[in-house]
Amino acid sequence: YNADTKGMLKALWELPEQCARAWELGMAAAVSPLDDLRQVVVTGLGGSAIGGDLLRVYAAQRLDVPVVVNRDYVLPEFVGPHTLVFAVSYSGNTEETLSAYAQAREKGASLVVLTTGGKLGEMAKNDGVPVITVPGGIAPRSATGYLFIPTLAVLYRMGLLPDLSHEVAECASLLQSIREELKPEVPRDSNQAKMLAASFHNRIPVIWGSSGTTEVVAQRWKGQINENAKAPAYWNVFPELNHNELVGFEFPGELLRRLYVVILRDPQDHPRVQKRFAITREIMESAVAGVVEIMARGSGALARMYSLVYIGDYASVYLAMLYGVDPGPVRVIDTLKARLA
Ligand code: F6R
Repeated sequence: YNADTKGMLKALWELPEQCARAWELGMAAAVSPLDDLRQVVVTGLGGSAIGGDLLRVYAAQRLDVPVVVNRDYVLPEFVGPHTLVFAVSYSGNTEETLSAYAQAREKGASLVVLTTGGKLGEMAKNDGVPVITVPGGIAPRSATGYLFIPTLAVLYRMGLLPDLSHEVAECASLLQSIREELKPEVPRDSNQAKMLAASFHNRIPVIWGSSGTTEVVAQRWKGQINENAKAPAYWNVFPELNHNELVGFEFPGELLRRLYVVILRDPQDHPRVQKRFAITREIMESAVAGVVEIMARGSGALARMYSLVYIGDYASVYLAMLYGVDPGPVRVIDTLKARLA
């Protein structure tokens, strides 16, 4: 492997420990309960925003207030003194997040910052805003544990979520056993991530989740394939895709033969959605290169989400290797940021 592949594989290998450490980071943050909290907003971009979606999906059935993810310069109109805003930027220098942070201050929202440092870390320190400083040196997309799990601990400390330390521990130990199955030493015929990468090779992955826990995972797989393998990928969600995207699979000719479809499943998906998976598969399967279903593992929602995230993360790195590209650098994003400067 080239050096970057090694770095990415190392960061992947360390994800279980990262999750456990991330809970501790959140528990140590200098936060206190808020009166009359009405919304939680996570503002960030790319690898720093996906943790917000994990929180949104995770909290949907557990939190009394809605979680909104904001990937923009501007915060939603409703943000005010009754809003808790997590401003998340791994580098601490993402301009959209800096702008949203300043707006949250102006609107009188309560803020918690998650970053390795940068301008955001500096501003928060000067403003007396609680900062959760996460370890640097990896790609933002490799830091989902650090950028998401502390928010759960903060919400617990504010009395809004139960103590999730057991769920975090279950998640970490499940990931420890999954990495043994997916590590580079395990050959392709018994390595699910390598098999997926081979199926994606020279094809366009289409990743489908459901509006339960797997929606955000489908989006994560797509992003990981884009950023690690430097390749296109698309995602969508059941049941919505049954009302539009499915019709596109009637397209005649060879075009659809380039698509490889993954259906990400959770044992707790709505029973009607499970039926939709089966019927949808029957309808479109013969048109595409292949369809595979992957079932989440674990009992807690955290473990179920991360078990699927982990497979996609590994598959995207193996796909990068098949394409002969470095999974690490995302030069086109750097170029774009430099041109905007
Ligand atoms: C992921 C990645 C990007 C960044 C995004 C925002 O690895 O490189 O998606 O996460 O450009 O930058 P940060 O996370 O530094 O705020």
